[in-house]
Amino acid sequence: MTLTPTSTAAVGVPHTRVEGPEKVTGSARYAGEVPFADLAHGWLVLSTVTRGRIRSVDSASALARPGVLAVLHHGNAPHVERDVGDATSAVFQHDRVPHRGWPVALVVAETPEQARETAETLAVEYDAEPHDTAFRADHPGAYVPPDGAHVAAAVRKGDLDAALAASAVLVDARYTTPEQHHNPMEPHAATARWDDGRLELIDSNQGAAWVQGGLARMFSLDPGAVRVRSEHIGGGFGSKGLRAHQVAAVMAATLLRRPVRVVLTRRQMFSLAGYRSPTVQRVRLGAGPDGHLRALEHQGLNPTSTVHEFTEPAAATGRVLYAADAHHTAHRLVRLDVPSPTYMRAPGEAPGSFALECALDELAARLGLDPIDLRARNEPALGPVSGLPFAGRQLLDCFREGAARFGWAGRDPRPGLRREGPLLLGTGTAAACFPAGAGPSTAAVTAEADGTFTVRITAADIGTGARTALTLIAADALDVPPGRVRVRIGDSDFGPASIAGGSTGTRSWALAVTTAARDLREQLVPGAAPPPEGITARADTAAALAALPARERHSYGAQFAEVAVDTGTGEIRVRRLLGVFAAGRIVNPLTARGQFVGGMTWGLSMALHEEAARDPLSGAPVGPDLAGYHFAAHADVPAIEAHWLAPPEDDDDPVGIKGIGEIGIVGTAAAIANAVWHATGVRHRDLPLRPDRVLGATLGADAGGLGG
Ligand code: MOS
Repeated sequence: MTLTPTSTAAVGVPHTRVEGPEKVTGSARYAGEVPFADLAHGWLVLSTVTRGRIRSVDSASALARPGVLAVLHHGNAPHVERDVGDATSAVFQHDRVPHRGWPVALVVAETPEQARETAETLAVEYDAEPHDTAFRADHPGAYVPPDGAHVAAAVRKGDLDAALAASAVLVDARYTTPEQHHNPMEPHAATARWDDGRLELIDSNQGAAWVQGGLARMFSLDPGAVRVRSEHIGGGFGSKGLRAHQVAAVMAATLLRRPVRVVLTRRQMFSLAGYRSPTVQRVRLGAGPDGHLRALEHQGLNPTSTVHEFTEPAAATGRVLYAADAHHTAHRLVRLDVPSPTYMRAPGEAPGSFALECALDELAARLGLDPIDLRARNEPALGPVSGLPFAGRQLLDCFREGAARFGWAGRDPRPGLRREGPLLLGTGTAAACFPAGAGPSTAAVTAEADGTFTVRITAADIGTGARTALTLIAADALDVPPGRVRVRIGDSDFGPASIAGGSTGTRSWALAVTTAARDLREQLVPGAAPPPEGITARADTAAALAALPARERHSYGAQFAEVAVDTGTGEIRVRRLLGVFAAGRIVNPLTARGQFVGGMTWGLSMALHEEAARDPLSGAPVGPDLAGYHFAAHADVPAIEAHWLAPPEDDDDPVGIKGIGEIGIVGTAAAIANAVWHATGVRHRDLPLRPDRVLGATLGADAGGLGG
């Protein structure tokens, strides 16, 4: 049973963003733009040593400069409680410097220029200590972390050694992915002020209720005394939670008793906004001659900071993808003197699918099986490790549809055969999978006296089109045209709600909005206008979600790529990308296509370009800006096709909508790397697939006959 009405009119029909006119005319205000009387400006000062202690901060000289109001640092800042599990945002609490780019002071002044100039000239003396910023596979500090909130550190089923020993064909390969950064176009920004005894924060985040809860805990406030507003957000990708600048702004507003704004610079974002940590992954696969997987082992290792323990759960993606008699997946961490990594679009699945889906391709080649056929032979009937039933599993449907659209049939599997002048051509494929979770949310829907409806929910539209999606969902649930529905989001006063993260946002909020709208319809008397104050129905989905039967519920996808590799320059051009996704009902095909294609574009960028570097001696980031951090530009991106499948008839999902924000990046890099192998006969197991790597490997292979 689904909660959506049968007279669906708006959902499924392309719809431009309801706030589009505000955005293109510039009247939509972002967090760093909302005007306030008496606004003061804070500028963060970041450490210039990589590890050590702060010996002194020359506040006196700074305070003598024009317009400077305060210099906050560990010697004078208010005490805050560490946020649960993550001390990254607990700034100015001690004199230790855990990494280069750690906030050591906040200069507050009348203008941003005064604050910045003073911040950049503030004299801070340090006692530097030896540091370790070098991540390597054999780092002696590697350890097994405790299970994370969402992902178990290690899951083991069966006797791996015995299964490997009994396998006719083996793959044992190491894959690496580099440090990658998710810099949204809109930098992180927050304005804090006290208003009649309440703390108000105008912020750019992925969940106003999430940031509200974090600030309340850190400053020991009643959650009702904190209001967080976040109406328009220019991108998040996992980076926009509770961070140093919001906490610093609240501290300064509290001490100065006036509104204080703190905006991060692009460079500061490279150490304060989180990032995807590099990974070293080992995959061992063992199969019988028929391709049946006897053993699947996936190990992930990633660095984290000394401040926060973050596991990039790269090994977890295989836990639902493939059956195997012995199934071992585990993570380890290394603590380094580096900024704290965090969630970044498809955390775990993005780097993990690169390793696992390349290893599957290697196994297919060794077995002489088509890579899609190999996956079909290892399609599990139940969760391979959990034993839980699947809900709406459509992985093979995605491959079938994708193969037909891409033109996979009749592909010559042999590598290194297709030439076009100096180019070698190839095609590759990979699977994609991402959990379809949901978090408890509240919503209120009001029937106004004028015949319109107002929806209030603490949702976040981080650029995905969530506000528009909720408008269409509410319109259908109310059985009215979308033009009669106004959706208000991004205000923690609307009540608790799940975040825009983990591809759970629209799925979570849709259930709350639909439930409240259904309830409201039952309260309305046909033909009678609501009273002047309107009629409001409220919903809280916590109980309904808790009552859902245990299932393995995921989105699925099949990625296809065609590449041309220039053997003279080492340059790889992606000629075609095609993805087919199964992600439940698609609410708004216009913005959904943007999500899929955007994710695939990022996967291309991850495959070919993205790589953050640190100076090996100083530990300082090299080129921490959007010029130095290389990523795909328009000319790198071909026409990308994204298609989707209708959900299966027997899907018993009460929402019907799955997340689409992350599945598009999953598997894309593997499909491209597999296509590069098909083109050249050379396996590349280290991202990105840089020209120097391609040249070195292809030249080496040329001597041996190009693997053909
Ligand atoms: Mo995301 S990495 O779930 O914002």
